[in-house]
Amino acid sequence: MKHLLSLCFTLLLLCPLLLQETTSISEENMPARLLAKLQVAPNAPCPSASSIKNNGRVFYPIGYGADPTGANESSDAILQALNDAFNVQSGLELLPGVKDLGGVIIDFQGGNYKISKPIRFPPGVGNVVVQGGTLRASDTFPSDGHLIELWAPNSQKLKRTDAIKIDRNYVFNGVKDQTAKTYYEDITFRDVLFDSGFRGGGIFVIDSARIRINNCFFLHFTTQGILVQGGHETFISSCFLGQRSTVGGDPGERDFSGTAIDLASNDNAITDVTIFSAAIGVLLRGQANIVTGVHCYNKATAFGGIGILVKLADAALTRIDNCYLDYTGIVLEDPVQVHVTNGFFLGDANIVLKSIKGRISGLNIVENMFNGSPARNVPIIKLDGNFSNIDQVVIERNNVNGMSLKSTAGKLSVAGNGTKWVADFSPILVFPNRISHFQYSMYVKGLPRVFVAYEVTNVSDNVVVVESDRAVTAVVSVAVDQYNMVGEGNFVM
Ligand SMILES: *[C@@H]1O[C@H](CO)[C@@H](O)[C@H](O)[C@H]1NC(C)=O
Ligand SMILES: *[C@@H]1O[C@H](CO)[C@@H](O)[C@H](O)[C@H]1NC(C)=O
Ligand SMILES: *[C@@H]1O[C@H](CO)[C@@H](O)[C@H](O)[C@H]1NC(C)=O
Ligand SMILES: *[C@@H]1O[C@H](CO)[C@@H](O)[C@H](O)[C@H]1NC(C)=O
Repeated sequence: MKHLLSLCFTLLLLCPLLLQETTSISEENMPARLLAKLQVAPNAPCPSASSIKNNGRVFYPIGYGADPTGANESSDAILQALNDAFNVQSGLELLPGVKDLGGVIIDFQGGNYKISKPIRFPPGVGNVVVQGGTLRASDTFPSDGHLIELWAPNSQKLKRTDAIKIDRNYVFNGVKDQTAKTYYEDITFRDVLFDSGFRGGGIFVIDSARIRINNCFFLHFTTQGILVQGGHETFISSCFLGQRSTVGGDPGERDFSGTAIDLASNDNAITDVTIFSAAIGVLLRGQANIVTGVHCYNKATAFGGIGILVKLADAALTRIDNCYLDYTGIVLEDPVQVHVTNGFFLGDANIVLKSIKGRISGLNIVENMFNGSPARNVPIIKLDGNFSNIDQVVIERNNVNGMSLKSTAGKLSVAGNGTKWVADFSPILVFPNRISHFQYSMYVKGLPRVFVAYEVTNVSDNVVVVESDRAVTAVVSVAVDQYNMVGEGNFVM
């Protein structure tokens, strides 16, 4: 009876629906219904947790034979569980062609599953939750695969270098692009660890809308932790991503490779995420994305790493807000409408403006703090290549400690005794030989009061020269900026 009693306990724990009213359990008050059942067929196979395929609309891969110890291959079992879950019917649709599965749950029950092939979702499913366990690539997992893949046969995969743009006809004329199709909608991945075993990536999402990747952990990817192509509104939040397990200062940091998050897609949000190892932390190849609360210490700039790379996308429309760039910086290629604000840059981390076609427009880098080594005095903004088309660039109100402040505006007061005052802004201004506006004034010291004729005589190479018609002891104040605001054309002194 001991054996039956413990089985009964197991059943009570696992099948609360069987025994709704029971609270205190002993042999005496064990529900007659259950006792009878157990005594009728004592040698029948025991129903156990591992044979339960589903409870209502919660599906358990273990019930399909998945091995939660990680010893045996589980991909077929997981795919079967998915298949059953996706055949649940509600008769409803989300977007046209996307079945609303009513919130069906694939529950990994805290298991650790070894898989040898990607778990690919069939197209046309939505309102699904995948939760609570670990997927690990086996050593035969395809190195170009991702542990979870959401792609439809009709979707076109992009190349690594492709960028994607907002359809302006759609935005401005309200004409929806009928050729763009969305195959997945409202799929949530939560509390899942994705271990790619140095073979391939974590999640690949293509032509999808409103996908949540929440409280997940990504390890050992060689390609991408998360790759999103096309579609929009993938929300990645409260996640940790790293190629190798480290808390920083890893002796192998030089060799970190792969990209933690690669978004070739529009309108996505990355929120409260830490990237602890990868060659590139976040790669943005689409538009209208927001990156907020992201801490990158993936691979130091000194070793060739990049925290956040905003690729050429002509009107990138990107906001990077409240991020912590920790020994690795931000690279913006031909930035057009990009905002970097409220950031913390540590360990000489800075922002590189990289010229591809030489255009830069609508860039705000404001209210960030930068901290580095005084011995190196690294500039907070660095130009990589020449920009010939510069418009609306505001880099201001940042502060530094141990780094060289750069700005698109400056003020200097120059004291002197004579006829010439030289205000040299070249150490602070971002762009060489470019002053769009200046203002100046002279304060002549001492008595008797004299009135002096003075004027600006040269505004070259970011140096403003003021000269007077007679020698005086005076302070000359000069304010300059490098903005070109709309309608001002490209007038440069
Ligand atoms: C793993 O597979 C072997 C062979 O099929 C089987 O004997 C064993 O019970 C399985 N282990 C688990 C934990 O499922
Ligand atoms: C930038 O322009 C200067 C002169 O305008 C030229 O000498 C230099 O080679 C250019 N650099 C690059 C990287 O194009
Ligand atoms: C300014 O320069 C003149 C001529 O060199 C000198 O006579 C005068 O004392 C100087 N004034 C001050 C305040 O240094
Ligand atoms: C202005 O200054 C630059 C060097 O800063 C010099 O090359 C140029 O000749 C000066 N122009 C005039 C008009 O003095």
